[in-house]
Amino acid sequence: MKITRNRRVSETAGRQSRSKFPNALYSEAGNKMIGRICGTGSFVPEKTVSNDDLAKIVDTSDEWIRERTGVARRHIAEQDTVVTMGAEASRRALENAGISPEDVDMILMATSSSNVIFPSAACSVQREIGAVHAGGLDVSAACTGFLSVYQIGQAYIQAGMAQTVLLIGAESLSRLVNWKDRSTCILFGDGAGAAVLQADESASCLQTVFHSDGRKGWTLTCDSRHKDGAKDLSGDPSTFIQMDGKEVFKFALTKVPEAVREVLEKTELSTDDISWFLLHQANIRIIEGVAKRLRLGMDRFPSNMEEYGNTSAASIPILLDEMNRSGRLERGQKVVMSGFGAGLTWGACVFEW
Ligand code: UT7
Repeated sequence: MKITRNRRVSETAGRQSRSKFPNALYSEAGNKMIGRICGTGSFVPEKTVSNDDLAKIVDTSDEWIRERTGVARRHIAEQDTVVTMGAEASRRALENAGISPEDVDMILMATSSSNVIFPSAACSVQREIGAVHAGGLDVSAACTGFLSVYQIGQAYIQAGMAQTVLLIGAESLSRLVNWKDRSTCILFGDGAGAAVLQADESASCLQTVFHSDGRKGWTLTCDSRHKDGAKDLSGDPSTFIQMDGKEVFKFALTKVPEAVREVLEKTELSTDDISWFLLHQANIRIIEGVAKRLRLGMDRFPSNMEEYGNTSAASIPILLDEMNRSGRLERGQKVVMSGFGAGLTWGACVFEW
């Protein structure tokens, strides 16, 4: 009674069901099925903007930006949208997984920067990649977005509602940034990452935690009146990303270590059991601070914000794809993922690669 990869859930669910949860999938051992990431992909636009380039439009310097954030350059979309970037990252992830778009049951897309309110970016990606059997929806959880779609995807699989879920994080934050505001425009970049999550009876060790605190929502906002003209420097500043950087910094340094400890407690694992801590790439000082609070060295906290800046929901899946393709992720390793950002929202999960 093995789960066959690529078989559509409707064909398999009946045979693997128990009466209490008629659709749920179970492994041979009788445990409820969970998903395993079986392919990753990413895409960033070609155009880069260096710190020196930014120093020509706002009062800043390469030295200040590198020291305070760890960012050296960011990729900026010119023609690309979250849909074109998300679709390309998805094609690469599906190819990496050896899965046809027609075998995807569900597309969950984390984004806060689509240039249309509806149709959802997930449905547009579905159209672009030909995932004709999939359902699709967007999830708005800012920089915690990829963690959220991962958790929802796992819930779909555990409930027997899907067997193959395409997870996407894609952002075009350059549309929403006030290019006159030196405290925010230096941070963000554009790009997309995707991962294919598939029910796998040998997958184990999944625990997740997710939290929100709407009372602190004011610390990081973006008004929905933004429009494509946002790159026009004469735009109304109140319609761009606005952030109390210090508050967000403090929040991340407190809540991320707490979430990591909380999720490890649920699995009865210690930090020694974890090969990699994949954190949202907001600021290198946040990652260093989290590592320090967990009393760990930086060697298990990979980062790529030097090249991409903070790509919000895309940062974790881009990193995941780089880790996968460079061979640093090995099957059987235990990995912690942690996202944090606007909402405020934060959380973590632990899984076996
Ligand atoms: O994805 C999650 C969302 N965001 C984050 O995680 C961001 C979290 N916060 C941060 O990363 C940091 O707070 C920033 C990088 C945004 C700012 O660093 P900071 O060390 O908190 O700087 P600050 O806001 O306290 O500003 C210190 C000084 C100020 O000047 P004065 O008042 O001391 O004269 C700022 O005006 O640095 C000035 N400043 C800059 N100077 C040069 C602010 N931005 C810049 C800049 N270049 N780009």
